[in-house]
Amino acid sequence: MKGSILAMNKKYIVYTTFSVLVAVVMLSACRDKRSTGLEYARNMYDPIAYNQDQPNKNFANGATAQTPPANTDPIGFVKYEYANTKEGYEASAALVNPLAATEQNLLEGKHFYTVFCSPCHGEKGDGQGHIVKLDKGISAVPAYYGPDANSSRGGAMSTMPAGKIYHTIVYGLNAMGSHASQLTPTERWKVVMYVQQLQQTK
Ligand code: HEC
Repeated sequence: MKGSILAMNKKYIVYTTFSVLVAVVMLSACRDKRSTGLEYARNMYDPIAYNQDQPNKNFANGATAQTPPANTDPIGFVKYEYANTKEGYEASAALVNPLAATEQNLLEGKHFYTVFCSPCHGEKGDGQGHIVKLDKGISAVPAYYGPDANSSRGGAMSTMPAGKIYHTIVYGLNAMGSHASQLTPTERWKVVMYVQQLQQTK
């Protein structure tokens, strides 16, 4: 009996000591609000390479991120020559889809279309995507097909050439934003291929 009380006391002492220790450690973190506390492997926080937003003594303006030199393009950057104007839009009609009309390209086009375009334009390209149905300010999304579907820039949607569709993906149009940062040039052409298939809907 006596032994078991001692054992209980021992347990109690261990638990209390542990709780007090935990409390002290936790409270010690409250001392300085701006302190990050104990940092393990500090050199992992301060990489040897410069972060883009870090000051940098090596450049005259003291910044790490520099404006690229004039007349240079990043590797892999594909220039789009047509301006976001009425003239640019009309001229873009001359563009030809550089991709081969393969099953695979069309399938990938469908995938990107479903992700980026169908919320407004609808899975079938009828202009009735779920965002349009919410009735929260996105409306007048044209169908890609049918005798009544016209572009607000003139011409029937069903005969809109590939280049104008590409142009619209690059710049957007009114309520439709630009998708140039979401889709690479190749991906855009795949989407164009799929939209052109939707244009054939009877
Ligand atoms: C936020 C909703 C929204 C999304 C997302 C969207 N569109 Fe649109 N799109 C519109 C609206 C609205 C119009 C009609 C704009 C106007 O005529 O004022 C339009 C018009 C167009 C037109 C006709 C352009 C013209 O010259 O009349 C094409 C082609 C088009 N979209 C293709 C796409 C493709 C391809 C995608 C996906 C990469 C896409 N859209 C994503 C809302 C959207």
